[in-house]
Order: sequence, then structure tokens, then C-alpha cells
Amino acid sequence: MTNPPLLLEMTSITKRFPGVVALSEVSLTLRKGEVLSLVGENGAGKSTLMKVLGGVYQPDEGEIRIDGKAVVLDGVMAAKRHGISLIHQELMLAPNLDVAGNIFLGAEHLRAGGILDRASMNRKAAEMMKRVGLDLPPTTPLRNLTTGQMQMVEIAKSLAMDARIIIMDEPTSSLTPVEAEKLFAIIADLKADGISIVYISHRFEEILRITDRITVMRDGRYVGDLITKDTDHDKLVSMMIGRDFTTRFPARVGKPSEVALEVQDLLVPGATEGVSFSARTGEILGFAGLVGSGRTELMRCLFGVDQPLGGTIRFEGQSFTPRRPSDAINRGVYLVPEDRKQHGVVLPMSIAQNVTLPDIHTYKPVWWLQREREQVVANEQLVAQAIKAPSVAQKVVNLSGGNQQKVVLGKWLAMRPKLLILDEPTRGIDIGAKAEIYKKISALADQGLTILMVSSEMEEVIGMSDRVAVFSQRRLSGILEKDQLSEHNIMELMTGLVSHG
Ligand SMILES: Nc1ncnc2c1ncn2[C@@H]1O[C@H](COP(=O)(O)OP(=O)(O)OP(=O)(O)O)[C@@H](O)[C@H]1O
Ligand SMILES: [Mg+2]
Repeated sequence: MTNPPLLLEMTSITKRFPGVVALSEVSLTLRKGEVLSLVGENGAGKSTLMKVLGGVYQPDEGEIRIDGKAVVLDGVMAAKRHGISLIHQELMLAPNLDVAGNIFLGAEHLRAGGILDRASMNRKAAEMMKRVGLDLPPTTPLRNLTTGQMQMVEIAKSLAMDARIIIMDEPTSSLTPVEAEKLFAIIADLKADGISIVYISHRFEEILRITDRITVMRDGRYVGDLITKDTDHDKLVSMMIGRDFTTRFPARVGKPSEVALEVQDLLVPGATEGVSFSARTGEILGFAGLVGSGRTELMRCLFGVDQPLGGTIRFEGQSFTPRRPSDAINRGVYLVPEDRKQHGVVLPMSIAQNVTLPDIHTYKPVWWLQREREQVVANEQLVAQAIKAPSVAQKVVNLSGGNQQKVVLGKWLAMRPKLLILDEPTRGIDIGAKAEIYKKISALADQGLTILMVSSEMEEVIGMSDRVAVFSQRRLSGILEKDQLSEHNIMELMTGLVSHG
């Protein structure tokens, strides 16, 4: 069989930002109907290369050809005219519009006199929504959708503009397993329709499953291509990192001691029954369950974001009723949230400002001292978290997705908490940096911190936790001891088939 002709050729693309060479002579090709994965460590340049293709950034050097003809993509509209649609790492939909309004945002159907033709948009939107399996009225407000459904709206939007190339930047990082399966089925349909897809992900299992070819980047450079069916997990990782690498979970030296946190019959808003558990000093208590099983809501109550409807919390032997996050922080309880963009970082501020933000009063007495101290603490974290940035003065908005996540972690680790709540701590983080974060979390537990870690990654929750609390359908379905930790036992509790005491 001969290969279909090249649809896209990006050749020797270079892109510089102040103090950073984000892309250095990177090349990439794409055929009609091909699913290509783009992989590389955090900050390797994946999103930047795709923003060049999407017309968001202009390259400093290099050439882009579509159907063999050189093109200039000097803006998002120009890229769209060439059939290129970029779905960003952080979705960019309008929460106040309905689904149809989002699908046709910027390409509204108008009637004579410039009046919106809602009937026509709703009709056409329904057609696109059907193709992506979205079974909702087109007039549903966007904010009522799950993240998975929003992802489908983005794809429907690409279809509405007749995209030939759809770029998906870490689409599955906040999807439930069921939603992810749906997405894979839709990708297969799009491929069958001759649409080409560039798929960025840090999850190797899905890359190996759904793509035809893999382009590997490292440090802003092109490293090489792999044909998916001829490769495996280890080959892919060693090409990405430049050496052999297997994730090992750090051995623990400390032993959990006295009970630090006691939760009794806590009734979390939206839960079906009260939850009771305790966590010891120096313990890592994992929280497994499907996305939406009620773990995040519980953590929000422990951090004072939401108020429980009943029950008690005791921390270090005293009653603990945080009315707002500052109450929790005053007791040494911190939460690293799962959604960094909404709750984790202040994008327009620098790394230094973000890292020291929660602790601002301790830096305050004299403003110039504050500045200096800010620099010192932030620099410590820059090194400790291996954040890829020219300096701590860099604005967080300019960091890669994974590096933003490291800033969020750095911010809380800089504060020497007593109880640390981590909600999906390694989402969007590459495999090498993950191992570093695991070491850090273990070391903190060894130093006597109590850690609650929500994680949807089976390997991570089993490898890191001393015990695992499993949630299913908004209730705690059981707590597994270290020697009971297995994928099988967790799955059983997660699907609610049995109950462990
Ligand atoms: N607008 C910008 N200004 C300055 N630097 C930038 C800008 N956009 C990206 N960079 C830098 O370019 C480099 C590549 O970033 P990019 O977002 O492409 O990485 P990535 O491969 O997508 O990483 P991740 O897996 O973490 O999402 C990083 O060092 C990043 O900080
Ligand atoms: Mg990225």
C-alpha cells in the first residue's frame, strides 16, 4: 500500500521568546487521515509548535507547506482558512453561551440585517454534535457540561469549520475513563473521514493505542519519529528522555505515627452519606475513585472552600472547622488543587510572586526585604521543582502546562505545611518530572507531614500510598491497607461491587 500524500510539512521551524529558544529547527509532517502523536517532556516545545501551526505564534524561521504549497499562517483566521483547528491545552470556550453559540463563535450565521440566525445555527450545531456523540439540545448552556462534553464541543466546532487538521493538546488529562474511550472512538471516525489529527499526551498507553506515528521532541528540538506499531513503552520513553528510564516509587524511611486527622461522619455537599476516616502523621493516604466520585468535594470541605452539612473534623487533637481557606492555612493545612488555571496560579504574575503569594504576610514587614526574600524562596523552588524557565521573573502564563503545575506544587511546598492535600498532583507532568515529584512527596511524609493524595492513576496511587481510601458514587466504599493494595482490590471497591471494612 502506498502512503497517502503529505498534507502538511513544517520544516526547520524556529521560535524564540525573550530568554528562551522554544523551538529550534523543528520539522514535522502529517498525512491525510493520519493520527500523529507529539511527545516530549514538559517544556519541550509541543504546544508552541502547535500554536505556530494554529496561527497563534509566528515562527522566526522555517517554512510551512500544505498540499505542497508554502503558506503563511499569520493569525488564527488564516490557519482556519487552511483547515487547521487547534484545541488548546486549557479549553477556551465561552461559559455564558450555549453549545451552538460556542460551536459558531466567530462564525455566526446571520440573517439579512445582521441578525443572528439561531434556527440555522441550532440545526447545523445539532448535526455536528451528532457526529461527536453529544446527545444534548444545542441550546444547553455550556457551563452545565462536563469537561468531557466540552472537549466534544471543541471537536464539533472544528468540524463546523471543515477542519482537515485537528490538533488536540492533552485532551484526556481531565476526562473520565469513559469519556476518554468516547474520544478515542471519535478520533477513529475522524480518521476514517480523512481528517488528520495531532495528538499531544503524556499518557503512553493511549498514544500506543490510538496513533499511527509518533514525533518525539526534546528541549525545543526534533529528536525523531517512531512508527507506533513497531514501538513500545520503553523505546518511546528512552527516546523522549534520552536515556533508559523506569518509574520506581521511592522507598519510605519514616513510619506513620499518631493520628493527626480524624474525620467523623462528615457530610459533604452532594454526598450520599457521611464519611469517616483518619490519617496519621507521616502517612500518605491515597484517595482512589473515578472522576466525579466525590473525592474533590471532600477535599474542598477539609480546606474550607465548601462547608460540610454535618459531622466533625479534628486535627492534631483539636476541633477543626475551617470556614474559609485562610482558616485552614492558619492551621497548616494546604490544598494543591486539580484545576491549576482556576485555583492554582495567577497567570499574569511572575513565578516568584506566585510561589510566595499564599505566605505573603511573612514576607511583608519591609517591602524591599520582601522582594529579596521572594526571590530567594522562589529560586529555591525553581531549582527544587526543576521548573523550566529563564528566571523567577518569568510570568506563569508563559510557562508550559506541566511547568505551571510545578509552580503550583512549589508554592505550597515552600510553606512547610503540616497537612498537605494533593488533588491529582501529577496531571500533565512528564514521566521524568513525575519521579522527582514522587521523591519529594515521600520525603515530606518521612519528615512527618500528613498527606492526602487524590489520584486517578492506579499505578501512582498504589505506588505512593500507605493506605488507600476508595470512593464510589459519592461515598467512601472502603479503605485498603498497604498489604491489600492491588489494582484488582481498588477496582472492586471503585465499581461498588464489594465493601471492605
Ligand atoms: N509566550 C511565551 N513566552 C515566553 N516563553 C514561552 C512562551 N510560550 C512558551 N514559552 C516557553 O517555551 C518552552 C516550550 O513550551 P511549550 O508550552 O511549548 O512546552 P510543552 O512541550 O507544551 O510542555 P508541557 O508538556 O508542559 O505542556 C517553555 O520553556 C516555555 O516556557
Ligand atoms: Mg503543552
